[in-house]
Amino acid sequence: MDRRAVAERYRLFPIFLIPIFVKNSFQNIEGTFDIYPGAQRATECTEIWSYLEGIIDEMMANYGYSEIRTPTLEHTGLIARGVGQTTDIVSKEMFAFERGNHSYVLRPEMTAPIMRAYLQHHLDQNPGVQRYYYIGPCFRAERPQKGRYRQFHQFGAEVIGTDDPRADAEVIALMTDLYQVLGIGDTTLKINTLGNAEARATYRDALVGYLTPFAEQLTQISRDRLSQNPLRILDTKVEAERVILENAPLITEYIDEESAINYESIKRLISSVGIPFVEDPMLVRGLDYYSHFTFEFEVKGIGAQNALAGGGRYDSLAPEIGAKAAIPAIGFAAGVERLILAMENQDLCKEHGSVKYDVWIIAVGDMAHEKAFQVASQMRKSHLRVGMELGHRSMKAQLRLANRANSTFAIIIGDQEVKADRATVKDMETGQEQEVFFSDLVERITKSST
Ligand code: HAM
Repeated sequence: MDRRAVAERYRLFPIFLIPIFVKNSFQNIEGTFDIYPGAQRATECTEIWSYLEGIIDEMMANYGYSEIRTPTLEHTGLIARGVGQTTDIVSKEMFAFERGNHSYVLRPEMTAPIMRAYLQHHLDQNPGVQRYYYIGPCFRAERPQKGRYRQFHQFGAEVIGTDDPRADAEVIALMTDLYQVLGIGDTTLKINTLGNAEARATYRDALVGYLTPFAEQLTQISRDRLSQNPLRILDTKVEAERVILENAPLITEYIDEESAINYESIKRLISSVGIPFVEDPMLVRGLDYYSHFTFEFEVKGIGAQNALAGGGRYDSLAPEIGAKAAIPAIGFAAGVERLILAMENQDLCKEHGSVKYDVWIIAVGDMAHEKAFQVASQMRKSHLRVGMELGHRSMKAQLRLANRANSTFAIIIGDQEVKADRATVKDMETGQEQEVFFSDLVERITKSST
């Protein structure tokens, strides 16, 4: 509790009488974290996030995806209907609350909100297929552990308005390219098809028929799922249940012809651009809106939470949240933190963990301070990355800062230099120094930086 809070609680005491040793003891909530410059942990380091977001923006632009931003707060009903009442996300993990007669939720994912925005703004009236991407916070009340947080960030892409298998292949290619640009290896792409609604209903009956005699041997969670959402049992991590599932019927035996043809096309397309994959008939995904093609990217070395990204086709989401008919759509979302964990694990964060400056200006003396301010302003206008201390530290201390700031050059200005109209330019790598007229500084640095 800080001094102000103590003063408020014990109103008798004016704030200055509260001892200064009462510390501010607030911490961020478990399962959330701060992102700040120079943080030791890569998942909390601003510079890593900026680097990654830059790459994502560039990659999405290359693929022709435009950014979409929706509110963090949505109506609970949208998520309940869109994601599905019996899913873990809706039944156990929502941060939902009431205000007046309304129930709101901190969004646990972005696909339902984006489809809501698409319908609300009649975006189907834009010509052609719509391609969107996003990066933003999502919230799930899960038990926090490495790679699993209560506030985490998803980036993802949604292609709305086509059932062409090239769209499915395109989002797979996009994700694969991103891993390549970032240098992330050891990923596995798992794919499956869930078929159409009828195929899934027939499969559901077959699975329930197979599992019912084993009901006593299932965990309580799986017994509940048996009546509510039996396909989710396929996701179980419980060894005894996995053994039971070894002889269970597979969805592949129930797939409708159209889905099977589409699935073959997607496999052909991604193979044709050299993307390896593993077929996994148990991959059903944890959200109810999926049908047909589904997929997940996994990575080794980041612990139990190894799903880097997941997605699939969700043609039936739109009617579930108010559209008159199905709207074909496909997309994926990836956990940004897990991506950073994978980068860290593969030693890909080091060179992106700090900002590199072109110039660090060192000024000693009152005249020099004013001159340094003008030089910095001029250089920043010329798109140079400029750093400068705003205090009265010694030249030595400022040089140390320039070193730590990873600057290419230091520009040293003392009152003497101001009088002589020149600064000393120090190459921080070679240590060489050179006197340069103030009027030539920008040109001198720009030439060396290009
Ligand atoms: P999801 O599989 O629930 O799919 O989440 C996508 C990704 O978000 C996961 O693969 C994981 O990397 C990350 N993630 C999920 N929960 C957490 C958590 N608690 N902490 C850290 N990271 C997490 C969806 O959300 C779908 N909307 C994906 C999609 C888009 N399908 C079609 N379009």
